[in-house]
Amino acid sequence: MPGDGIGVDVTAEAVRVLRAVEAKSAHSFELTEFTVGGALIDQKDVPIDDDTVEALKGFDALLYGAVGGPKWDSRPLGQTPLSAILRMRKELDSYINLRPVKLFPAVAAASPLKDSIVERGIDLLIIRELTGGLYYGKPRLRDSEHAVDTMEYSRHEIERILRFAFNAARTRSGKLLSVDKENVLETSKLWREVALEMADEFPDIELSHLLVDAAAMRLITDPDRFDVIVTENTFGDILSDEAAVLAGSLGMLPSASLGDSGPGLYEPIHGSAPDIAGQGIANPIAAILTVAMLVRHSFCMEAEAKSIEDAVESALDEGWRTRDISTGAPTERSATTVEMGDAVLGRLE
Ligand code: NAI
Ligand code: MG
Repeated sequence: MPGDGIGVDVTAEAVRVLRAVEAKSAHSFELTEFTVGGALIDQKDVPIDDDTVEALKGFDALLYGAVGGPKWDSRPLGQTPLSAILRMRKELDSYINLRPVKLFPAVAAASPLKDSIVERGIDLLIIRELTGGLYYGKPRLRDSEHAVDTMEYSRHEIERILRFAFNAARTRSGKLLSVDKENVLETSKLWREVALEMADEFPDIELSHLLVDAAAMRLITDPDRFDVIVTENTFGDILSDEAAVLAGSLGMLPSASLGDSGPGLYEPIHGSAPDIAGQGIANPIAAILTVAMLVRHSFCMEAEAKSIEDAVESALDEGWRTRDISTGAPTERSATTVEMGDAVLGRLE
């Protein structure tokens, strides 16, 4: 599902990489394309249709670009392009959103942080709860004088995302940071209570807590102190865009949205970037790294996933830069979206 704007450009490069992996391996992929978002609004006046939602459930994995643009964003709630992806996440019950944030040393100069901070290395995993909280809570209403959003979490919703996060911490440093706003919000009080209870089940994991405002600050001052972060929907959305800056650009970060069953939904974390759409200059690396996550999590193709990540790293080491990660250094080779795709493909082959 390429979607709109740069979603179309970056998904094309991601698919080329998937095809290259296929050519090298004993596997073959059957690909089907669906129109969603603004592109579907133009055709059928809806951002996603019921047939598409039903059809998606029958696939092994879903690759999605981005949707949206000024042409459609003023439509009523529930009919904007973005409601397509919100509906997909909910219907697939993709409550686990994995957002790994890694700074490739070659693009360290593209990070706005001081060298003394960046040098310590940035490699963290944000686990965002994706199907609860403010984005879905009811009541939700607005008139010209007041508006209401509802932040709601059940124990069940909190437990299942925390369980995933405790297990994920086990595969990394053994440390889990839970981020909340326990000093103000009832949902956060319950979140922390459940986290503390569950810690007994995971005695090998060192659990800590941080309020979201402090976490936002510490991400910038001490990014190397973070490893696995788990948090609710809205906080995770904001903290992961903030963390993207650490990695040099929004155009560098992939994500996977997973449930307990059904297909994984894989998407770069960025949007459709209307400001650069149609110019062929979007960074396809987030979408390409998204394919690495797709083959890793949905097809257990760890070696292939690693080969994609290594190919991205090599292309960056060779100096290839799209505009968003360019610093103007003389060793850089400026790349369009397709040229960056070519550079990665060259290293894969
Ligand atoms: P955005 O992520 O599209 O862009 C933010 C900034 O980052 C822009 O300056 C853009 O040029 C830059 N950027 C993003 N991805 C890039 C890439 N791959 N290469 C180079 N530069 C990149 O967020 P924005 O501007 O807030 O939203 C634009 C549209 O995208 C809106 O309609 C919004 O609703 C939609 N959106 C869709 C998402 C989705 O489909 N999952 C997620 C976020 C936003
Ligand atoms: Mg976001």
